[in-house]
Amino acid sequence: MSGSRIERVAILTGGGDCPGLNAVIRAFVKTADRFFGWEIVGILDGFEGLFRSDATVSLTSESVRGLLPQGGTILGTSNRGDPFRQRQVVDGEVRVLDRSREAVERLETLGTDALVVVGGDGSLTTGLELHQLGVPVVGVPKTIDNDISATDLTFGFDTAVRTATDAIDKLQSTAASHHRVMILEVMGRHAGWIALEAGLAGGVEVILIPEIPFRLVRIVEHLRERHKSGRNFSLIVVAEGACPMGGAPIVQGQRDPHAPVRLGGVGPWLAAQLGELIDHEVRATVLGHLQRGGSPSPSDRVLATRLGSAAAWLVGHGDFGKMVALRRRQIVPITLAEAVHRRKTVAPFGEDVMTARCLGISFGD
Ligand code: F6P
Repeated sequence: MSGSRIERVAILTGGGDCPGLNAVIRAFVKTADRFFGWEIVGILDGFEGLFRSDATVSLTSESVRGLLPQGGTILGTSNRGDPFRQRQVVDGEVRVLDRSREAVERLETLGTDALVVVGGDGSLTTGLELHQLGVPVVGVPKTIDNDISATDLTFGFDTAVRTATDAIDKLQSTAASHHRVMILEVMGRHAGWIALEAGLAGGVEVILIPEIPFRLVRIVEHLRERHKSGRNFSLIVVAEGACPMGGAPIVQGQRDPHAPVRLGGVGPWLAAQLGELIDHEVRATVLGHLQRGGSPSPSDRVLATRLGSAAAWLVGHGDFGKMVALRRRQIVPITLAEAVHRRKTVAPFGEDVMTARCLGISFGD
C-alpha cells in the first residue's frame, strides 16, 4: 500500500448475498471514476479471493453499466475465507489458521492503496481487523436481516420484506380456499425484522420472532378463538430463528461441525405440532433464499447507490477504519469499531410490536 496518494482501490463483497450489492459496486466505481480516476480492482468471491491469484477483475464505468437492477453480486461472495479464521483440514483434522499476513501481502502485491469491504457484521469485523493491521479499509453494511444497529436500515431488507409479503398474499388465497392454517418461514437468524414487517404488511394472525419465545398452547388458543369467530383460515409468519420458550432454534444437519450453524425448519416443525392440536389442516412454506435473490426494490437501489458513492468519498478523503451508515436519513461515516458486534433486534415492547398487538396479532407469548 503505497504512501498517501491513492491510485488503486480494491473492493469485495463478503458473506451472504443481498439485493443491492451490484448497485453499491456500480455507484462506487462511477463516483471513483468521475471524481478520482483510481484504478478499481474487484476481488472475486469475498475474502476467499485474496488467496487466489486469478481472483481479480478490473472495474470501470463501462463494466458496471446496467448493474443497477441486477440481483446478486458480479464479484461473487463467500462465507468462507476470513483471513483471521481460516478453517483448513490438516491431517484429517479441522484447524483454524490465521492467514491475515498473507492477505495483507496479497493486497500489497496487487498494489492497492485501499480496500472497500461490502458485508455484514462478520465481513465488517474482518475489515476492522485488517485495518488494525494497517490496511486502509472502508466498510459498507449489508444484510437482508436488517440487524446492524449502527445503521438505521440496510439495503436488501426492503426487497426481502416485499418478497415475503408477496408470499403471504399468495398463501392467503389458498389458505382461505382450503380453510387451512398456512405457515410461512422467513429468514431472520437473530432478529425478526423480516417476519415482523412482512407479517404486518400481509395482515397475518401470528408472528413468531427470535426475540419473543413462543408457547404452542398460546398459538393454539389464538387460532381456536379466531376460528370460533367464523374466520376459517389463518396465516402465521415465523422467523427461522424463532423458538419455543425454553427451547432452542431448529438447525439443519450439516456435515462440517465447525461450519456456521444453518438454521431452518421451524415452519415445518410448527406445522407438525399444530396439526396434532387443532382441527384445521396445517401447511408450511419455507421461503428460503428467494428472499435474497432477484432485483432490488427501488428504495434498496437508492440506499445502495448512496452508500456506494459515499464509500468512494471516504476513500477519497483518506477517512479509513470507517463505515458508511444511514442515520436519520443522512449517510454518515462512523468508525468500524463502533459498528461491529452490535446487533439490532426487535424490542418486544417496541412501538411496531405493540401496533401488531393492538391489531390482535399474536406473538405466541
Ligand atoms: O444473514 C443473512 C441470512 O439470510 C440469515 O437470515 C440466514 O440464516 C443466512 O443468511 C443463510 O445463509 P446461507 O445462505 O449461508 O445458508
